[in-house]
Amino acid sequence: MRFYYGIISGYKVHQRSGSSAAAKLGVHPQQRRVAVSRARLQRHLELTWLQGSSSSFPLTWLRDNCQCPKCFHPDSKSRTVDWATCDITIKPKEVQVSDDGKTVIVDWLDAHSSRYSAEWLHSRRFEEDARKKWLSTYKQEKEIWQSAEETEFPRKRFSFEGVMSDDGQLLQWMLELERFGVAVLEGAGCDDERTVRKLADRVAFIRRTHYGEEFSVKSKMEPSNVAYTGQALQLHTDLPYYEYKPGVNMLHCLVQAEGEGGENQLVDSLRVAGQLKQSHPEFYKALSTIPVDWTDEGVEEGRPFRSLYRAPVICEDSTGKVFRVNYSQPQRDSHFSVPVEQVETWYLALKQFTQLMLRADNRVEYKVKPGEILSFDNLRICHGRSGYTPAVNQIYERHIVGAYLDWDEIRCRIRVLSQREQ
Ligand code: OGA
Ligand code: ZN
Ligand code: ZN
Repeated sequence: MRFYYGIISGYKVHQRSGSSAAAKLGVHPQQRRVAVSRARLQRHLELTWLQGSSSSFPLTWLRDNCQCPKCFHPDSKSRTVDWATCDITIKPKEVQVSDDGKTVIVDWLDAHSSRYSAEWLHSRRFEEDARKKWLSTYKQEKEIWQSAEETEFPRKRFSFEGVMSDDGQLLQWMLELERFGVAVLEGAGCDDERTVRKLADRVAFIRRTHYGEEFSVKSKMEPSNVAYTGQALQLHTDLPYYEYKPGVNMLHCLVQAEGEGGENQLVDSLRVAGQLKQSHPEFYKALSTIPVDWTDEGVEEGRPFRSLYRAPVICEDSTGKVFRVNYSQPQRDSHFSVPVEQVETWYLALKQFTQLMLRADNRVEYKVKPGEILSFDNLRICHGRSGYTPAVNQIYERHIVGAYLDWDEIRCRIRVLSQREQ
């Protein structure tokens, strides 16, 4: 228990007429039990911490987050207060600061009583610093590549065995993936096709798609995907036709193409999207607002599939941050269901975006070695592959086994492991 913020020396209530007239009530150290003047109470309770700063808590929020067994189930850590009958305009009859300032007790007008610990309240303050601290457990800030030419690649290598056996190394690999978008694991062997499954299980569980759980990338007869040939793959993100697009791609190299070919290209689309926004704002707008019909159609293991999802190439969240990029020539439908006058502009914008992606200082090239796993953020990193000549004898055929993980599961694991490290 950290005491430095644990003691509340008193509280004051907001007045309707503004803060200058706010009354500070009940601050005498001996007087822990103080009645709140209902007439003066706005919809906030203001608490003054021992260090002198104060925090404002909305009364509705306090009532909604009552921690008593009727309103909160402690084992499942879940709110159970009945929102159908809960009066959100309820006011307190009385507020007491007890337990040497470590507890606030609110007695409500409907005879309900709520207790909150000072520590619990302090970590839920609405001030920006407290919100930032909490949000650091949500997602990490991404580090955009300065320039692929200047960026050493891979920036970090991780030992497969280390990640499999040591929680600290597992955490470091996941943090690198979230921040930087790409990480290489080495020492994963080259004869076990279930290696990526083991890695996925170490984090959480494999994300299945219509291509299965693990998928073998090698040149096949009657391929259901252009990846299953020796042809070059243009820069793309996998599976843009999924609304819940798998978050991380893990490609385990069992056999690499001999000689030339089979290299992967990687581009940080956040960097390129930023460049486009600067140089051609109207193109950026087109790519971030005009929806595209992403599609995939075929048969895998006898099961026909026909996927379709509509979304722009650059997807921004409500704060304007890019959270997902969709980019794939083979999986863009010829149906383009937007008003006809948007079409030409959109193509010009895509062309510009592509030219930026192909710029040498925006791309890295890496030929994955047998025994390595190339892992990358499939919502952010565009990847491609140089063409190669499939081997005639099938023995040294290039063979990559891939699998996906979802960001929800990775972030969940990061939170659990980070807490343990503290
Ligand atoms: C894919 C893919 C990369 C490779 O299958 O989508 O990008 O190296 N494969 O074969
Ligand atoms: Zn309650
Ligand atoms: Zn791919």
